[in-house]
Amino acid sequence: MDIAILGGTGPQGKGLGYRFALAGHDVRIGSRKADRAASAAEELRPRLPDPGLLHAGTNAEVVDGADIVLLSVPYEGQVDLLLDIRELLAGQVLISCVNPLGFDKQGPYALEVPEGSAAEQAAQALPDTTVVAGFHHLSAPGLLEDGPLHDESVLVCGDDEDAKATVIELAAATAARGGVDAGALRNAKQIEAMTAVLIAVNKAYKAQSGIAIAGL
Ligand SMILES: NC(=O)c1ccc[n+]([C@@H]2O[C@H](COP(=O)([O-])OP(=O)(O)OC[C@H]3O[C@@H](n4cnc5c(N)ncnc54)[C@H](OP(=O)(O)O)[C@@H]3O)[C@@H](O)[C@H]2O)c1
Repeated sequence: MDIAILGGTGPQGKGLGYRFALAGHDVRIGSRKADRAASAAEELRPRLPDPGLLHAGTNAEVVDGADIVLLSVPYEGQVDLLLDIRELLAGQVLISCVNPLGFDKQGPYALEVPEGSAAEQAAQALPDTTVVAGFHHLSAPGLLEDGPLHDESVLVCGDDEDAKATVIELAAATAARGGVDAGALRNAKQIEAMTAVLIAVNKAYKAQSGIAIAGL
């Protein structure tokens, strides 16, 4: 697949882009600034058997003609960005891995999102785009390390079964246990909030925790 990553210059976008390209997908690193996208792609290329799979451009440039788009920007910035490129995203599948989280003295916590979840907020901003939620629990440092992620499952939820199946298939490129159908897009609220728990676990155990679904 040809995968565009909005905000692909951040650790999560770079980490997922690295894994997708390792699995043989074409990856387009997007940014608000073309030179930042080019630097991020340049950073990753030496680590890939086929550096030609990595491309770079502005967010608007990379979306054009992509098979699928990953949204990997902070929650606070997502609506403005999506509205800016709404027309380019029409008819496409957008994956949201956005975790709306806050941090205070007690640690990480899930923010209240009026639409239910960050993914549903993106879906409301983009009525002509199919939004699927996934990849919230794969941590950027783990994605950017070498070697497979043996333990993790990737919970994927969405209201379009074909789009969800595509993302579940794509998840196999990132984690050994692969993608798991986690139901309708409204379940993104629980999936996103669970990340606050994982970050608290990471802090308590100085670990890089993840989610694995038992019983499958
Ligand atoms: N880090 C993790 O381990 C992790 C794990 C799971 C999910 N996530 C989720 O993945 C998303 C990205 O995480 P990250 O850690 O990579 O975040 P980040 O470094 O804070 O941001 C990623 C990129 O988004 C762009 N960006 C920043 N503010 C923006 C704004 N207001 N409008 C548009 N673009 C903006 C920046 O790219 P340019 O300046 O180049 O445009 C930045 O490099 C977040 O929603 C996060 O909740 C992160």
